[in-house]
Amino acid sequence: MALVTSKALLQRARQDGYAVGAFNANNLEMIQAIIEAAEDEQSPVIVQISEGAIRYGGLTYLAEVVRAGAGEASVPVVLHLDHGSGFETNVRALQAGFTSLMFDGSAKPWEENVATTTLIARAAHACGIPVEAELGQVLQSRDQVTAKQVSSHMTDPDMAGRFLELTGCDTLAIAVGSVHAMQSQEAELDQERIRACAAAVSVPLVLHGSSGVTEESIRQAIAGGIAKVNVGTYLTAGFCEALRTASAARPQEHDMRKLLGPARDEVRARVREKIRLFGSSGKAQAVPAGEFAGPDFAAVE
Ligand code: G3H
Ligand code: ZN
Repeated sequence: MALVTSKALLQRARQDGYAVGAFNANNLEMIQAIIEAAEDEQSPVIVQISEGAIRYGGLTYLAEVVRAGAGEASVPVVLHLDHGSGFETNVRALQAGFTSLMFDGSAKPWEENVATTTLIARAAHACGIPVEAELGQVLQSRDQVTAKQVSSHMTDPDMAGRFLELTGCDTLAIAVGSVHAMQSQEAELDQERIRACAAAVSVPLVLHGSSGVTEESIRQAIAGGIAKVNVGTYLTAGFCEALRTASAARPQEHDMRKLLGPARDEVRARVREKIRLFGSSGKAQAVPAGEFAGPDFAAVE
């Protein structure tokens, strides 16, 4: 089927108490693995492309590969921009056919985050495309963060409510104890804060940095209002491990498919595992095709 937007998918997920996985992809094999895993599980799926992935693989190349994969799939596939850093990046993604955007102004002052999110939401909504924003900040593990820093960057639920009113964004990434790019699952989330954010805003909430979070904490977070869970490091780590194992077993191999194939299989298995954890298996038909709204010209001034 054609690419779909994330809006109705995530609203349904929040309403019904599960989450849709948003999996970072950098190349052909990862895109195939993610969509095939969603097909295996009969789950909706979000393939997300970061600015780093765009620098590596190219905006149009990656977008067109995801579009081709979605076209062959029977499950809903969203093409999402992950951590877009500004207005220009978001507009380029819009032009390239992304069906879901993100502006990450979490490191910016409040006024700037509000102003840029509002601007991007207005441009995207004119094209029928939803926008994720971030308030509070999910830090990077390479910053060697301390527990105190993680805590001091968490999302304030009252500010989240105000942010939604001002910006009109469609989903909100909240900082509730996770850190990006962790290699082991040991972080516990602030469940009370998740519930308070969910009470303050009605839109689906997004968890970033899930690779480092314990499974039980993720289950509780979804029950508390998280409806989109981002997974990156767990997949790239699996890809690289499988590639190293295949290379070690075949040191003279010159057919790259014999090395990349097992890496793709490993990512597929890991995506399936996460989809089951998030509770979206079998939810591919939860949103009727007619609800994937495109541009609404009646709503544009
Ligand atoms: O935006 C991407 C995610 O937050 C991925 O985080 O690499 O820690 O799983 P992760
Ligand atoms: Zn993230």
